[in-house]
Amino acid sequence: MAYASSQHLATVEDYVPDVLKAKAQGYRGYKIHPGGGQHATGPAIPSYIGHMEEIREVRKAVGDGPVIIGMGGIASSEHVRQYAAAGADLFGIGSALTGLDSAQFRDYLAELHGDLCRAPREDRCRRSCESVVPMDYATARIRSRVDYDASLFKLAFDSLPADYRDGNLAGKFFFLCVPGVGEKPFAIFSASEKSVIVRVVGEFSAHLAGLGPGSEILLRGPYGRGVPRFENSTLVFVGGGTGIASLLEIAHQLQPGNREVFLLGARTREQLFDVDKFERLGPVTLATDDGSLGRHGLAPEFLAEVAAGLPQAERERLVFINCGPAPMVHRCFEIQKEMVSEERILGSIEYMTSCGVGICGKCASPSGALSCIDGPFMPWREFQCGARREV
Ligand SMILES: Cc1cc2nc3c(=O)[nH]c(=O)nc-3n(C[C@H](O)[C@H](O)[C@H](O)COP(=O)(O)OP(=O)(O)OC[C@H]3O[C@@H](n4cnc5c(N)ncnc54)[C@H](O)[C@@H]3O)c2cc1C
Ligand code: FES
Repeated sequence: MAYASSQHLATVEDYVPDVLKAKAQGYRGYKIHPGGGQHATGPAIPSYIGHMEEIREVRKAVGDGPVIIGMGGIASSEHVRQYAAAGADLFGIGSALTGLDSAQFRDYLAELHGDLCRAPREDRCRRSCESVVPMDYATARIRSRVDYDASLFKLAFDSLPADYRDGNLAGKFFFLCVPGVGEKPFAIFSASEKSVIVRVVGEFSAHLAGLGPGSEILLRGPYGRGVPRFENSTLVFVGGGTGIASLLEIAHQLQPGNREVFLLGARTREQLFDVDKFERLGPVTLATDDGSLGRHGLAPEFLAEVAAGLPQAERERLVFINCGPAPMVHRCFEIQKEMVSEERILGSIEYMTSCGVGICGKCASPSGALSCIDGPFMPWREFQCGARREV
């Protein structure tokens, strides 16, 4: 349903003319959102459970249509009832969902629905709208920069939002933000180095390419679910391109109690960055598209060979952890499925990631999992269309 929103308005007195305009333009819905709008005079509008008066005014002015979407601070059935009594038809829930993964999300909405249907009234389901995930920005300064080639480089910061040791940021990511330019998600390559690896692909990464020691940047995070524990296993890490940057922290975290081997691929030798850091953790096989270093070809072509080089006992307890371009990860899955059961295969693909907290839905994988809250490292089944998900 196409809907207009009050969010861009400077004062709430503009809501009624704006919703009438939206109605004339054929919008079927109008969202009253307390994120925007202040009264021309008088006290500030409370950020949560506000705007009831405004919803009533708008409802009176527009009659039956368009549909009014009320949102702001909804966390319980009582809040929904307040919005409904004011005249809202649909209800938006945002902040109350932050910090939940997809399965908890569904449980929460089912409970809320149960509360709304139950008589006599009882508010069993209640969450806080104070976000439990980090939404604040921390300022960091670039301490050093290493260029691997014209479009791939490493930035190390003087600080991260907290003190992390190597392995603490396994399966996590941060948003790097430059005011006026935008923000994009990045894995921390090495927690002790406080570094990220960046490939220039578009506007934001091109802006980062213009930064050097001393430049300031904002970070928010960490986000992501982390990775499951494995013990007494041989972990085979397969990384392609900048996907390699997400593997080092995982390798650090999972090293105790496991053996680790690495298969790292890139277009050219220059793009196989910081290989020595992986070599300290286990044997590394390298592959380049142009044959300038290691094997000549794409990393998945050498998977069977890497596995065959392991002792029989280790081949029986393999776990695969893949990160890179989608075609690489999917090709790896096909090969790995022949070697181990599917729960021993994890992958991460860079889906479009905007909010990072499970609200916008842009990062959905083929199964419908949200990679920002259910991943970004997820089991094989979450990358399959129509895969049944555990709830
Ligand atoms: C969880 C997560 C972790 C990430 N970690 C890293 C990291 O460690 N290092 C890193 O460099 N990037 C990483 N990324 C990707 C990073 O966020 C993108 O490179 C960045 O969004 C590009 O922004 P942009 O504005 O420069 O390009 P955009 O304007 O967003 O993209 C420009 C064009 O490039 C395409 N594109 C975008 N990203 C890529 C890509 N990675 N490869 C090829 N084409 C692409 C887009 O489809 C578009 O056509 C990660 C993404 C996620 C979701
Ligand atoms: S739901 Fe918004 S990025 Fe995942």
